[in-house]
Order: sequence, then structure tokens, then C-alpha cells
Amino acid sequence: MKILVVCLGNICRSPLAEGVLLHLVKEKKLPITIDSAGTSNYHTDEAPDARTVANAKKHKIDLSPLRARQFIVEDFDVFDKIYVMDKSNLQNVLKLARNQSDKQKVDLFLNISHPNQNMEVPDPYYGGETGFENVFQMIWKTSDALLQRYQ
Ligand code: 4NP
Repeated sequence: MKILVVCLGNICRSPLAEGVLLHLVKEKKLPITIDSAGTSNYHTDEAPDARTVANAKKHKIDLSPLRARQFIVEDFDVFDKIYVMDKSNLQNVLKLARNQSDKQKVDLFLNISHPNQNMEVPDPYYGGETGFENVFQMIWKTSDALLQRYQ
């Protein structure tokens, strides 16, 4: 099983999901490959946002080796499931889908823990109310729920 998590910049939400999923996959010894990407190229090759890294570190998750990359159409060939953080990411990824099989791989990440509710993981990048810890909790719970499907 190969799972890709996607957001806009690949520096806040999706690298956090990648780091949490990698941590849980290792802990649970599951045969699952995890990667992340952004729909934009704004931060290509950059490390995750320092605020996201610092918050993850509080939970013993090390995001510092990760580097941003842009989602590419070939990701549809490599990955079995593609989870996006918000509806804008969903539109951007679906625009690149070549056929029904590509489209069927894509879903909102929070539909794992909140089926059919089409909820979004809010973007913490611009600060404000959202908060990095709040996003961490959402991503942790949903990552755990996702991997329970493969245990
Ligand atoms: P992310 O957050 O999509 O969770 O990585 C963002 C990071 C950077 C930008 C937007 C969202 N940006 O516009 O630079």
C-alpha cells in the first residue's frame, strides 16, 4: 500500500501528516509507504515550516529531514491512495486526473475520520485562530484511524 498526502505548500499540513504516518507505520510495523507533496511549487526543496517542525517535535515527531516537492501527474501511477487536506487541493489534484481510476484514488484526508462530511484541515500557515497544535491533533487522530484499516 502506497499513500500520498497532499496540501498546497507541502511545508505545513502534508509533511506533518507524512511524519505522523511514518511514525505510526514504524510503530505498528505495517507494510505501507508514505510520501507527501504540494499542489504548488512555492516551496520546492524547502524544509517544513519551522512552526510545524517545532510543534511536531513536542510530540517526538522529527520532520526536519523532509523536503517539499510538487504533486505530479505520475503520482497517480505510484500511489494507491491520495489524501488532500482541503477542497482547493482536491480541485487542483482532480484537475490533473487523466481518468476515472486516477480520480477514485483521491479523497479529503478528514473523510477518513469523519466519513462523507467533506471537512478540511485548516491551513495554519497564515497564523490566526487555527493553531499548529489543533492541526496536529486532527492529523494525529485521522492518521491513526487510517492505519487501523490496515491492521
Ligand atoms: P500548507 O501551508 O499547504 O499546509 O503547506 C501553506 C504553506 C505555504 C503557503 C500556503 C499554504 N504559501 O502560500 O506559501
